[in-house]
Amino acid sequence: MPTKVVIGAQWGDEGKGKIVDILAGRSEVVVRSQGGNNAGHTVEANGVQYKLHLTPSGIINKGTLCIIGNGVVVDPKVLLEEIDMLTEKGVDVSGLRLDLRAHLIMPYHIVLDGLAEEAKGKSDIGTTRRGIGPCYMDKAERIGIRVCDLMNEQVFINKVKENVMIKNKIIEKVYEGKGVSAVEIIENYLEYAKRLKQYVADTSVLLFNAIKEGKKVLFEGAQGTLLDIDLGTYPFVTSSHPVSGGVCVGTGIGPTMIDSCLGVVKAYTTRVGKGPFPTELFDEVGNEIRERGNEYGTVTKRPRRCGWFDAVIVKFAVRTSGLTELSVNKIDTLSDLGKLKICVGYKKGDEVLDEFPPSLEELALCEPIYEEVDGWEGDISNVTKYEDLPENAKKYIERIEQLCGCRVSMVGVGPNRAQNLER
Ligand code: GDP
Ligand code: IMO
Ligand code: MG
Repeated sequence: MPTKVVIGAQWGDEGKGKIVDILAGRSEVVVRSQGGNNAGHTVEANGVQYKLHLTPSGIINKGTLCIIGNGVVVDPKVLLEEIDMLTEKGVDVSGLRLDLRAHLIMPYHIVLDGLAEEAKGKSDIGTTRRGIGPCYMDKAERIGIRVCDLMNEQVFINKVKENVMIKNKIIEKVYEGKGVSAVEIIENYLEYAKRLKQYVADTSVLLFNAIKEGKKVLFEGAQGTLLDIDLGTYPFVTSSHPVSGGVCVGTGIGPTMIDSCLGVVKAYTTRVGKGPFPTELFDEVGNEIRERGNEYGTVTKRPRRCGWFDAVIVKFAVRTSGLTELSVNKIDTLSDLGKLKICVGYKKGDEVLDEFPPSLEELALCEPIYEEVDGWEGDISNVTKYEDLPENAKKYIERIEQLCGCRVSMVGVGPNRAQNLER
């Protein structure tokens, strides 16, 4: 069964979109299993840049079946805008399928995301304010509205009315905000339904059959391991499961149907939003990495926090997702930086930790232990073979491999499809 899971092994934005696009060229099906339009996946192919939020990054490859699985939370307005953007750019979206069990992001989710963040004041999480958390909350509370509800007009109208009544009480009475209009929501969403109807399906069935037929399937993770609601830096996390385990429940297949798991990392570390980040740099080197790597959020345009490569968190991702290989992106950004540092463990008082601690209070007491390594000089973005990389760049990759206990199978030297070295 040639099925591969691709996940983010840091705090998101590792370059998953690029890797999925590359691998999609050798696959027949690409599936998203969690998250929503908090994700921003960049694909650069044939001189065109695409920023995808909901559509699997396989869509750029003609003939690929692209599934938005049941575990994804879908803002239908955003999905339709994305379909229009792709169509305008000449991409054929006829292979897109939207699962009937997927939950819908409603306008009140977006309002509540913003109000809850504001009410938290300085303790806010720094969410993308796209309604992701409130939508997953409704799913867990069992009051969510699903794609299959949207496809049944009367059921949809009733559910919207019930929900809006409750949500407006919360919006107006708890947060003193402005309520939403059920009439407006119903009118807009029923229009979206007309356009989305052609894409909906019970995608678990499609996927199961494709796997049984021996088709090559890729699962495209969104966010990253340290943003996982169970395993990440809780509460500074997203509301879904970006680790490989999330793929099964989020797409409706069993774990015996997954062959391999690839973790995507950057050659350094970034994080957008709040929360702990042990190797964060607050100096000129951090600024340099941000500017050279163009580290600004794909979704919110916020400057990304930047720091050295942290082998502790990537080793954590190798363990929690059972990673079988790593793809290290953006090694080109580290050229000409002089000496580089890799975090090989954490020091807590006299104690050395080599596993990522569960509690943020314990993490706050930790200092990264750095190993200094020699950097390399010159533009490497035109290198086409791993062997042709500067010796120190190869040593850097090999050290990452050793420290994380996982083979590095791909190295990125630029944002384009072609700027990827296979090992
Ligand atoms: P994703 O969310 O994991 O798909 O990553 P994003 O698209 O949010 O952010 C990754 C950014 O890095 C995008 O702008 C990519 O075009 C870019 N990128 C990916 N791989 C490389 C690489 O190897 N080198 C450089 N310079 N940029 C890369
Ligand atoms: P991709 O798929 C980086 C972060 C937000 C915030 C936290 C919670 O592009 O890697 P949410 O809106 O999900 O409730 O916000 O998670 N976050 C991401 N950071 N990449 C992402 O996705 C992210 N999706 C959410 O910045 O800190
Ligand atoms: Mg991103």
